[in-house]
Amino acid sequence: MTRAAVHPVAGQGGGATLPRHVAIIMDGNGRWAKARFLPRLAGHKRGAEAVRATVKAAAEMGIEALTLYAFSSENWRRPADEISDLMGLLRHYLGQELDALHGNGIRLRIIGEYHRFGPDLVKMLDEAMARTAPNTGMTLAIALNYGAQDEIVRAVRSIVADGVAPEAIDMEAIEQRLDTNGLPPLDLLIRTSGERRLSNFLLWQAAYAELLFVDTLWPDFGAEALAEAVADFGRRERRYGGL
Ligand code: IPE
Ligand code: IPE
Ligand code: MG
Repeated sequence: MTRAAVHPVAGQGGGATLPRHVAIIMDGNGRWAKARFLPRLAGHKRGAEAVRATVKAAAEMGIEALTLYAFSSENWRRPADEISDLMGLLRHYLGQELDALHGNGIRLRIIGEYHRFGPDLVKMLDEAMARTAPNTGMTLAIALNYGAQDEIVRAVRSIVADGVAPEAIDMEAIEQRLDTNGLPPLDLLIRTSGERRLSNFLLWQAAYAELLFVDTLWPDFGAEALAEAVADFGRRERRYGGL
């Protein structure tokens, strides 16, 4: 049996088990703002601050890959002004942070169908990925217009387009065509804001990930919350179906 989808090794860091790949569903910006009688945009702005702090902390801890859900394929259902606010914030974040990310050896990767965004943003993202591609530090993957079901559909299309024979289709053939190809196996998937669902995020990759749902709203997340999540992960016993 091929074991492509199940990888029973997490990295060791300083004695405790460190997840190699952490993904976060960054949820709760709107509720954070609402609780303060602020517009939702204020929550998204604070959310961008939380991204900055979390990325820095993850890189310092030695996590190999951090994947952040920034915009789902379902988020197009939001009002046009909120979507454009989010795009504006992304542009602003990249403009402000790219030098620092690059200086810290971080490799940027975008997952999802980001080509659906405006050509200027696509160009900015492509350039940022190209510039940071040679870096050897943490990979920061940002999910934009990402939906896991769409990702799997695209992988299947690519298998068919490549003319792969049915008997040659295995888990590896699929994994190689997912947007996360080349990243370490997903160890820990965190969702903030108290919601307990995956909202179409990394469905394939989460097969054996540890799931952590925290009540913290995303703008309140940061180095401390990440350290707590990683400590929680370190206490989990992973079995992969064995004993
Ligand atoms: C997460 O916060 C950010 C995105 C989905 C882009 P929300 O905007 O979903 O915040 P809530 O869930 O309304 O509180
Ligand atoms: C998931 O959050 C998407 C992102 C964090 C980008 P949502 O707020 O969109 O998810 P639902 O609608 O509560 O499932
Ligand atoms: Mg939400």
